[in-house]
Amino acid sequence: MRQILVTSALPYANGPIHLGHLVEYLQTDIWVRFQKLYGNRCIYICADDTHGTAITIRAQHEGRSEEELIAQVSQEHLADFGGFGIAFDHYGSTNSEETRQYCHEIWQALRDADMVAERDIEQLYDVEKQSFLADRFVRGTCPKCGAKNQPGDNCGSCGETYSPSDLIDPVSALSGTTPEIRSAKHLFVEIEKLHGFLDEWTQSGTLPSESANYLKGFFLNQALRDWDISRPGPYFGFEIPDSPGNYWYVWFDAPIGYIGTSKQWCDLHGENFDDWWRNPESEIHHFIGKDIQYFHTLFWPAMLKTAGFTLPTKVHIHGFLTVDGAKMSKSTGTFVRASKYLEHLDPAFLRYYYASKLNSKVEDIDLNLEEFVARVNSDLVGKVVNLASRSAKFVAESGLSATYPDDGGLFEKFAAEGGAIAASYEAGDFSKAMRAILDLADLSNPYVETNAPWELRKDPEKAQQLQDVCTVALNLFRQLAIYLSPVLPDLAEKAGALLNDPITSWEQAKTPLVGTPVAKFQHMLQRVDPKKVEAMIEESREEAPDTQVVAEVSGTAAVDDSDQPLKDEPIAPEITIDDFAKLDLRVARVITANEVPEARKLVQLTLSLGGDERRNVFAGIKAAYEPEALVGRLVVMVANLAPRTMKFGVSEGMVIASGPGGDDIYLLSPDDGAQPGQRVR
Ligand code: 2FM
Ligand code: ZN
Repeated sequence: MRQILVTSALPYANGPIHLGHLVEYLQTDIWVRFQKLYGNRCIYICADDTHGTAITIRAQHEGRSEEELIAQVSQEHLADFGGFGIAFDHYGSTNSEETRQYCHEIWQALRDADMVAERDIEQLYDVEKQSFLADRFVRGTCPKCGAKNQPGDNCGSCGETYSPSDLIDPVSALSGTTPEIRSAKHLFVEIEKLHGFLDEWTQSGTLPSESANYLKGFFLNQALRDWDISRPGPYFGFEIPDSPGNYWYVWFDAPIGYIGTSKQWCDLHGENFDDWWRNPESEIHHFIGKDIQYFHTLFWPAMLKTAGFTLPTKVHIHGFLTVDGAKMSKSTGTFVRASKYLEHLDPAFLRYYYASKLNSKVEDIDLNLEEFVARVNSDLVGKVVNLASRSAKFVAESGLSATYPDDGGLFEKFAAEGGAIAASYEAGDFSKAMRAILDLADLSNPYVETNAPWELRKDPEKAQQLQDVCTVALNLFRQLAIYLSPVLPDLAEKAGALLNDPITSWEQAKTPLVGTPVAKFQHMLQRVDPKKVEAMIEESREEAPDTQVVAEVSGTAAVDDSDQPLKDEPIAPEITIDDFAKLDLRVARVITANEVPEARKLVQLTLSLGGDERRNVFAGIKAAYEPEALVGRLVVMVANLAPRTMKFGVSEGMVIASGPGGDDIYLLSPDDGAQPGQRVR
């Protein structure tokens, strides 16, 4: 029997779980459930990732301590995961004594191996907020590939890691100001000392081939860069024992949280920790997204190797989620929180839909909402559940036949497919497993149609035949439910209850069930109601006042607008088209929006015209808009207005709005699809 410890990436404790996160947790949960059902010893470990600046900022914003915040978020995360049937064996927190202990241990091992260096480094400092800036709170241009708007630690475009002060044209995300460079002591882990080991390990079949190939480039004729793992205080995290005032960077203790949380599980269950984490026979499987592979495929194995822990057997890497072909977005309502989904829809739908999309490649997956409805309804309800709902009621009294009837070889065929389906699960190729299972469902339905139990029941002389046909249909259904049970545990449970034989093992698909009573048929799965999908999207959409007004107007036959605005301000003297053409109006995105403390009416906006074209604009809209609510939205600006020097700085344009002023101001926004930089004419 294999012994397998599985982890998903530890979610940050500063925000809610959304459908994008769920790709990974559902993928991992399905894999773990498969392993357990298949008879392997398998535990699923996860925790909240609680340290770092983002947590502090949110806690400060909400006027409470970091500990209070992370305790609340932990509850929320657990409720979301529980709602989706994600069955961790233990869920912890990186802010635990166990994790701290292992941080100390691994740190000591790195020191002993002479892999820690100390250097003064220049770090970006936000003068306004009086704080050194964590990597994720600086954005700028990647020093390697030139991609714009990248975070301070690693480039989302080329994968390069660097220090924030290497960024070109950095901007502080805390205040929108240009940070200053200040010097501070930092500690570095010299992973180059493990160059040979890491080169070999990353190419040893542990990673998906795309990732292994991508990493090859990091080893070729160049040294691996030292990893900056400390941050000067104040910092919410663990203080470094031999460097007071300095803290381990969140990415140092986050993966150690896998170990610390495993230790908690071991202590709770009387297990020997070393059997899991210091045992070459034990398998460690990490499930992560492609954005964090660098941490898991270079730094993490370097730490484990140095401190003598079991190395990961496999790092399973998935791509990102898109919804209807586009990045999830709050304004279109496709940024859907797990809790919002659960208010409207059955988790089984998403479990099945993701399973039908996931394979072992590092590919993005798309949640196409129309396909989601169609696929769940046609596959699960139409083909799988239907098998039981059309036959169970006819044998509620008689139970299953005492011996398994002749079914033309169907049961045997289904049983024989078990090996291939299991192999697909094992490989993480769930979409292949789902196709194979649905192919079987496609074979079973014609059997029921041909033998039409609803006809047989009309003739009392055909009672035996009726019982036999239903015995076959329900056994085929049971085989499907067993094969689907990693994906649809609730369905499997209901199938077990229906046939008075709980589903607990993959092997059960090999032996038909005979002579058992059949319970009253209970509804197993409703169809997806597209209206509920719409409602979920609608409620997820950010407040969009303009859209609401349009909806109201279009629902009204006669629109009775007041003539007051025109009376207040009559139309200006006529101009020519050439006059109009002089005005260069552009779509722009608000990148930062800040109050100007000295000016009652003004908000300072940084507007992006696409690429690295930025404009600083002071807009007199403070009475009407909260600055935070503006960040990210599109506006229309006059882009060729001569710059104007004001007391607080230079204003390089104007945003267009209607309304008389004060809190009666309405910014214009383009319809969905408009891009920053596009001209408005
Ligand atoms: O990217 C993230 O969401 C991190 N919180 C993942 C951490 S994974 C592990 F290393 F802890
Ligand atoms: Zn880059």
